[in-house]
Amino acid sequence: MLKYGYYYLTFTIMSTHDKEVFDAIAGEAIRQRDGLELIPSENYVSKAVLEANGSIMTNKYSEGYPGRRYYGGQEYTDVVERLAIERVCKLFNCKFANVQPHSGAPANLAVYAALLEPGDTVMGMDLSHGGHLTHGHPMTLPAKIYKFVTYKMKDPETGEIDYDDMLRVAKVEKPKLIIAGFSAYPRTLDYKKFVDIAKEVGAITMADMAHIAGLIAAKALRNPFDDGFDIITSTTHKTLRGPRGGIILTRESEEIAKKIDKAIFPGIQGGPHMHTIAAKAVAFGEAMTPAYQEYAQQVLRNAKAMEKVFKDNNVRMIGGGTDNHLILADVFGSLGVTGKESQAVLDEVGITLNMNSIAGDTRKPLDPSGIRFGTPAITTRGFKEADCAQVAELLLETLKNKDNTEKKEEIKQKIKALASKFPIPESFV
Ligand SMILES: Cc1ncc(COP(=O)(O)O)c(C=O)c1O
Repeated sequence: MLKYGYYYLTFTIMSTHDKEVFDAIAGEAIRQRDGLELIPSENYVSKAVLEANGSIMTNKYSEGYPGRRYYGGQEYTDVVERLAIERVCKLFNCKFANVQPHSGAPANLAVYAALLEPGDTVMGMDLSHGGHLTHGHPMTLPAKIYKFVTYKMKDPETGEIDYDDMLRVAKVEKPKLIIAGFSAYPRTLDYKKFVDIAKEVGAITMADMAHIAGLIAAKALRNPFDDGFDIITSTTHKTLRGPRGGIILTRESEEIAKKIDKAIFPGIQGGPHMHTIAAKAVAFGEAMTPAYQEYAQQVLRNAKAMEKVFKDNNVRMIGGGTDNHLILADVFGSLGVTGKESQAVLDEVGITLNMNSIAGDTRKPLDPSGIRFGTPAITTRGFKEADCAQVAELLLETLKNKDNTEKKEEIKQKIKALASKFPIPESFV
């Protein structure tokens, strides 16, 4: 048996049966062990989640929903899907859940399919201000079917959303659905204002909480349902620390929940991935523990520690800083290093993050002005505020010395030493 930190590679059959794939997985295990993962949408799952995800549940077809399937032999698949539903409803304080979406993008597509007719209008956050591709990027299928209109930040220096303009546009465009949610926005949204605007124009509200769902489940951040949102969609593999997958939650309307179930199956998906649903159930169970609540609070404290280092070094952050797990920094404006260069040079020293466009970016998306990074994964490894401050210092030191080979080698060794101090844990409970 090969052991790479927490990744017990027990695939003794695969290592001889398919050495090419095995070697790639082993290489990835070492990369994850030795580097620092700052991509804010990534995390490490527990061994229990991995075991469920790699289980024999993958063999089963279970089209339909618990108690109403199109195939026989469902006594155990029904158990895991019911457990996942029950647990996620408890975590988010809602009445209905669909745990079958294969990922975040199909979850969003299913909500559109459930509630909209072709040509209907949807309002979402402008992509250049932090919104997600699935909220209306012209290259996506939803953008070809529905009309998307957007809202933006009033001022990228504070990050506050321009709610007055949002109301003005909503009154003119009459969206049927208003989406709160983002993949590159570091501040808090005023969910109550979204609900008020939606009420004024008769829209349904959906919060795409893919990035911060785990922080909401742990009550470290506000739950949009508490302000009256109708629907929450999310991925399960980011702060929620589960397998790759999606969920759709409905606060209280059975009518909406039924439409969503039909939109997932048979609307856009076939058989559910029961191994993933089993792993989701395990992750939701873990998210109910006090240890997970402490984890979520630490994610926020760690992001604040990194924010302070960036502030002290006069590096501009979009929104002026962070209220959640992520930071979007204007490295081109502040240090003269582009997002693409930053990503590449940080890869060299073992820090993984991603280049990102910033509001009003004058550069192209494939070499933008910004970088996006966050604390969910390193917090899972046990990093605390002082460690995160050190990571932020090393990150900036790398960018300031991007052409200094000796310095980069020195930083790389420091990163490796830091990573080895914090092995990826096997269990969180
Ligand atoms: C806000 C938001 N919604 C949806 C998605 C899509 O999720 P997936 O990549 O699992 O399809 C993402 C992924 O980054 C996201 O950040």
